[in-house]
Amino acid sequence: MDALIEAAWRARDNASAEFSGFQVGAALEDESGRIWGGCNIENASYGLTVCAERVALFKALSEGVRRFRRVVVVTQASDLTPPCGACRQVLWEFCRDIPVTAVNRRGESKTWRMAELFPDPFDRSNLE
Ligand code: THU
Repeated sequence: MDALIEAAWRARDNASAEFSGFQVGAALEDESGRIWGGCNIENASYGLTVCAERVALFKALSEGVRRFRRVVVVTQASDLTPPCGACRQVLWEFCRDIPVTAVNRRGESKTWRMAELFPDPFDRSNLE
């Protein structure tokens, strides 16, 4: 877990967050133990911003990885930062009920399961 948290902090160093000033790092561990880091990438057209979690996930997906164990999200905020609604939808789609750990600037953390953060999901089972 420590390696995953460290990877998330390293990824955060690359955040492009000039508009919000809120830098986020994420790290996703796949089934083979490989770690995929991501940071938030903002845009002057604000709605095009992509969160750290989705950057990490899309990096892995684009390399053919499809199974994941856990994800960590880190910020320098005093509060913990759980994934936004859009990221919950996408994490559910590809990672299902993995643990999600948020870490703040003091190193405090909280872990949820995706099913807690995203109850009653819309997913492929609804597309029958
Ligand atoms: N953000 C993330 O990258 N992950 C989260 O879990 C919450 C929000 C980013 C999006 C935007 O760049 C900035 O944080 C402020 O919302």
